[in-house]
Amino acid sequence: MSFDLVFFGGTGDLTWRKLMPALFQAFRHGKLPGGGRILAVARDDRSDADYRAFIKERFSEVEPSKRPSDEEFARFAELLHYRRMDLSQPADYAGLKAWLDERGADTAVLYLATSPHLFPVICEQLGAAGLNGPKVRVVLEKPLGHDLASAQEINRVVRSVFTETQAFRIDHYLGKPSVQNLMALRFGNALFEPLWRRESIANIQITLAESLGVGTRGDFYDRTGALRDMIQNHALQLLTMIAMEPPSTNDADAIRDEKLKVLRSLKPFTAESVARDVVRGQYRAGTADGKKVPGYLEEVKVPAGSHCETFVALRTEVQNWRWAGVPFYLRTGKRLAARDAQIVVNFRPVPHPIFPGPTLANKLVIKLQPEDGLELHMLAAKGSGTSDALAPVSLDLDFDKAFPSDRVGAYERLLLDAIAGRLNLFVRSDEQEQAWRWVEPILDAWQRDGSSLKTYAAGSWGPAAASALVARDGCAWAEEQ
Ligand code: BG6
Repeated sequence: MSFDLVFFGGTGDLTWRKLMPALFQAFRHGKLPGGGRILAVARDDRSDADYRAFIKERFSEVEPSKRPSDEEFARFAELLHYRRMDLSQPADYAGLKAWLDERGADTAVLYLATSPHLFPVICEQLGAAGLNGPKVRVVLEKPLGHDLASAQEINRVVRSVFTETQAFRIDHYLGKPSVQNLMALRFGNALFEPLWRRESIANIQITLAESLGVGTRGDFYDRTGALRDMIQNHALQLLTMIAMEPPSTNDADAIRDEKLKVLRSLKPFTAESVARDVVRGQYRAGTADGKKVPGYLEEVKVPAGSHCETFVALRTEVQNWRWAGVPFYLRTGKRLAARDAQIVVNFRPVPHPIFPGPTLANKLVIKLQPEDGLELHMLAAKGSGTSDALAPVSLDLDFDKAFPSDRVGAYERLLLDAIAGRLNLFVRSDEQEQAWRWVEPILDAWQRDGSSLKTYAAGSWGPAAASALVARDGCAWAEEQ
């Protein structure tokens, strides 16, 4: 199958940091279909040779095991092309169309790796140039909008030019093997399903913790904040996969219909429940990896006195028969004590303990990163001595060891899926809009009341209020248990 893959924003950070390295891995693993061309478009004048040299140089910033040798790069570079485009000029789109038509590949994937405010104009111009035929797919990179209205506006324009099955909205978490394993765990195995409900589960915690700060992205981040950057998309997508009903097939729409139902069942926030159930925080100076690090307000390009949140913890519920009354806690933050993404499913304790000593409620930990695995915590008899007291143990499964050579990175997987036209791991517009609808009352409440912002020391697990949020229900975050 021949393909053309076009990157709008071809010299931008996302393209050289994530997309090109991912494509190179696919190429190295022999997974990229043959007969492909990769075209970067951007504003400045460059030849193909200049662009190849630019990408080659940027590969020096990629982790060593993922860097190409000179010989490998030379072969990969044959796929790379460059084209200057002014994104507001119809003639430049006509030129792009002529370039694509000249060869007439089986599919053209147009990846909008630009700032989202350009999505509407690019889509309109693509439509006007006739670059929206059935062979064309458009990939839209997050953030898709800033709030519900802006997301709806982007979707309106996208829908006026492309059909829903041509639109591939990226949430890169869905490309992570560990996240796909959630589906496998729940729907490839019969074991957990009977327990996967309010009768057996006490609460569920989703943590997406980062140890890095905002780095040089202060200006972008300050307009975004943790709620928009991580909760509205990544954390809610994980929640839908944990809470959804079994889809009837593995088709994109069967899955996305079920995810949408979960988003629609989330307990809506009110001003009162935001004040009670949502904690927002901002890091102050502290320590990371044994070194002193500045607070958010001292980071480059962060405006003085910013109220932007770098941490969110919240409590919600999925209001349906399966989950009624089960708290779902979501938490994310920058400059936390560790880079650690995991989902903890806390089961209910035994109804009537018969052994001496401490009891323990079973816990399933789905580890997303840095490790990718599963841990089932349980009690067992040690068999030493004469005491009947039980001791905690865990069953550990490490997917990197179980499948040592098969792991494919998130962007690699998503790019290959976009080329092949597989939509399962992409977000549908109604899911995305529903997620915005749900977070909006939180944004509104914060805007009305700036006083709720708490600070936390860099290198900690966030504001004390986040612990109090779960302690209120008699729970604790995983690291406090
Ligand atoms: C991105 C956010 O979507 O996800 C970043 O914009 C964040 O702020 C990143 O750092 C985290 O992704 P990962 O794959 O490193 O967990």
